[in-house]
Amino acid sequence: MEETAKILIDGTTFELPIVTGSEGEKAIDISRLLRETGLVTLDPGFVNTANCQSAVTFVDGEKGILRYRGIPVEQLAEHSTFVETAYLLINGELPTQEQLNGFSVLLNDHSLVHEDMRAFFEHFPRWAHPMGILSSMVNALRAFYPEIPTRTEEEEINITVTRLLSKVRTMAAMSYKIFRGHKTVYPRHDLTYPENFLNMMFDSPVRPYVIDEEVVRALNVFWILHADHEQNCSTAAVRLVGSAKVNLYAAISAGICALWGPLHGGANQAVVEMLGQIHESGGDLAPFLARARDKKDPFRLMGFGHRVYKTYDPRGRIMKQVCDKVLGKVTREDPLLEIAQRLEEVALKDPYFIDHHLYPNIDFYSGILLRAMGIPVNMFTVMFAIGRLPGWISQWKESTDDPNWKLQRPRQIYVGPNERAYVPVRKRG
Ligand code: SDX
Repeated sequence: MEETAKILIDGTTFELPIVTGSEGEKAIDISRLLRETGLVTLDPGFVNTANCQSAVTFVDGEKGILRYRGIPVEQLAEHSTFVETAYLLINGELPTQEQLNGFSVLLNDHSLVHEDMRAFFEHFPRWAHPMGILSSMVNALRAFYPEIPTRTEEEEINITVTRLLSKVRTMAAMSYKIFRGHKTVYPRHDLTYPENFLNMMFDSPVRPYVIDEEVVRALNVFWILHADHEQNCSTAAVRLVGSAKVNLYAAISAGICALWGPLHGGANQAVVEMLGQIHESGGDLAPFLARARDKKDPFRLMGFGHRVYKTYDPRGRIMKQVCDKVLGKVTREDPLLEIAQRLEEVALKDPYFIDHHLYPNIDFYSGILLRAMGIPVNMFTVMFAIGRLPGWISQWKESTDDPNWKLQRPRQIYVGPNERAYVPVRKRG
């Protein structure tokens, strides 16, 4: 017997089906609502609205659970690599050794960036934010790698996916080097995905970069933790833009723009800037906590709170452990880590944060880890974007394969002026 929800409108009862997910989540399917009742629903921020059924990632915000294709993120962080996790998200299963080797070779083969793209980087103003550069350059990839008519749609998608995963990492490092006026470093076939990124960022003719396995491990974990997260703002942007059947580069470029926002992926940069302000003001937390509690003050405690998690973000917990390990290894004392630890301790005992279910999210410690790796603060969100790329791609692929998929075009409730006549300018005012 199908489970339904009944709504009574002007004396008429309407029944709408209830759908149940594989983890027991339930939703009222309102796809017939407008046709049967003439009404639409209103839900600013989609707080109560699911835009799709998805098999990619599962989050339980009450229990602090995060699984990619059913595998707990804790197990992937402990045993997997970013490339393997990307394969899992995009293909739905962990790769065999042969599949993993083939995927790694493909990523290596497509890791170079067209030399003519170098001119783009060289002509951005020096103060340009790396996220704005990255979204522009990803969009420009279509121009340099146009669709080949002789390829099947599947071949076209696979080559585009591989190019994105591999070239975005190279472009991020290129951008950093060019902006510093340093010689760019090319990817090497003998290095793994994260090793290549670190080498392209930090190798120099006068100081060859020495691969530190602890830092490589930490970067793998950092990117695994960021790899996907259901229908967050930037993923929803990729799905919405992708629903117009635009090319994948353009849809991903839209996702990068959405992630840039300080309430979303830009929070990792905002956290470190906030911790820096606390440090510069003498380390007193009280004024910042008071501002966070003050309804009249738009200030938010960056790195705290989450639309879905109403308990500790499981990724934040892992990130904190990796932070301790890497900071210990690079023996780089970071006063911001001590402030972050104090802030977490005080906030978690503060009634306002307890009542509002505000806990550290993934961004709270991630910036401190990136600082320990030597990543410049204005590239923190670029690091998030590289990590989130497999998630955006897997969600986009799922949407294009979905038989129920439609062009996304939300409705609205109009609250403007009722009909009125045009007034000639000589009669106005
Ligand atoms: C990410 O969605 C995802 O999955 C995102 C992400 C991913 O992997 O893709 O997990 C990555 O974006 C993590 C979030 C990073 N952003 C920040 O750390 C910025 C600081 N956080 C807040 O801006 C806020 O918590 C949001 C935006 C993250 C979530 O806010 P919501 O769900 O829109 O809730 P809200 O803004 O309506 O806040 C509810 C209440 C309000 O108080 P009341 O008016 O109800 O009394 O909680 C308060 C808010 O004032 N509140 C905070 C707060 N976050 C919420 N008060 C102080 N400091 C905060 N950080």
